[in-house]
Amino acid sequence: MNMMQRLSDVETQYSEEIVAMKKKRGSELVILTHHYQRQEVVSLNDFVGDSLQLAKNARDAEGAKYIVFCGVRFMAEAAEVLRRKNQVVIHPDPMSGCPLADYAPADGAEMAWEEITDVVDKDDVMPLVYMNSSAALKAMVGRNGGSVCTSSNTARAFQWAMKKRRVVFFLPDENLGRNTALSLGISPEQIAVWDPTEDHGGLTRDQISSAKVILWKGYCHVHTHFSTKDIQRAREKFPGCRVVVHPECPPDVVDASDGSGSTAYIVKQAEQAPAGSTLVVGTEVNLVSRLASEYEDKKIVALSRSLCPNMFRISIRKLRDSVASLPNPDKDKVVSLSDEVKGEAVIALDRMLSI
Ligand code: 13P
Ligand code: SF4
Repeated sequence: MNMMQRLSDVETQYSEEIVAMKKKRGSELVILTHHYQRQEVVSLNDFVGDSLQLAKNARDAEGAKYIVFCGVRFMAEAAEVLRRKNQVVIHPDPMSGCPLADYAPADGAEMAWEEITDVVDKDDVMPLVYMNSSAALKAMVGRNGGSVCTSSNTARAFQWAMKKRRVVFFLPDENLGRNTALSLGISPEQIAVWDPTEDHGGLTRDQISSAKVILWKGYCHVHTHFSTKDIQRAREKFPGCRVVVHPECPPDVVDASDGSGSTAYIVKQAEQAPAGSTLVVGTEVNLVSRLASEYEDKKIVALSRSLCPNMFRISIRKLRDSVASLPNPDKDKVVSLSDEVKGEAVIALDRMLSI
């Protein structure tokens, strides 16, 4: 089914206006859309991808003056950190944040870092930060010798960190950190959880000094929505199906699945599934619906319906308003970071690219 058929008259009009404005602006305008965006927004993209891919697309788009980023705040910030000097990054809805990223405010993480390194020598702890975090937190990690990682390269980043320092301090997704640590053979006893709502993260000095991995207590509600019961039901309903989930899902769900990996991995699984087979996918539902309509020769179904309301905030009207505002974008929609934050965040991003 063509998803564009579901558009109202006014949305169709906005869509046509965007197409016309894109034509007029040519290569000076680039529209980036994350995989979790609504179909009608994705259909207007110059590039669709995961957060890292899109930030690179922005930087590599020579000649692009205006980058309109349809995704959540931390993604638009990453594009702002990596952009070229003459580019402007515009976020059509500045309120489209990420609750997972919000679990770890930079000042709280800085305090935790001070407390942890009061117990373990600074040179023995490596901070690693998931892409799903503010630029300020990436800056704090960059300043302290650490790196960014995405769900595509978390295991590689852990291995890099463990070679360099005795303890890994991973923020802000506990499940991704635990799934990765367990997959690398780290035992559950060697993993401690830093709860920012408790004094000293709820940990004793002994627990901090004996841990190999310290995980920040944060999670993505879109991915913790899935349960092993969902997997059991899917296997009963679709005998012989393959179940793949995102590693932000709880460890028991990852364990019960047939495969787990990043957004890019999930897109590849859909592409590679044999015709006639059934793929059950545990991730954001807009991506699953789009994959289902893209590959009609296979059955691609959601493990359960789980929508990211922040991604959903970006509508075709907001995209149209941002594009129509050019060359004078609304100030509140222009992503802006201090030079200090950008300078330190880029160090952590560059470390990831070199790992
Ligand atoms: P990636 O684009 O890095 O895969 O992250 C998407 C996301 O928000 C996962 O919940
Ligand atoms: Fe954040 Fe989860 Fe939405 Fe991804 S799916 S943007 S981690 S809330």
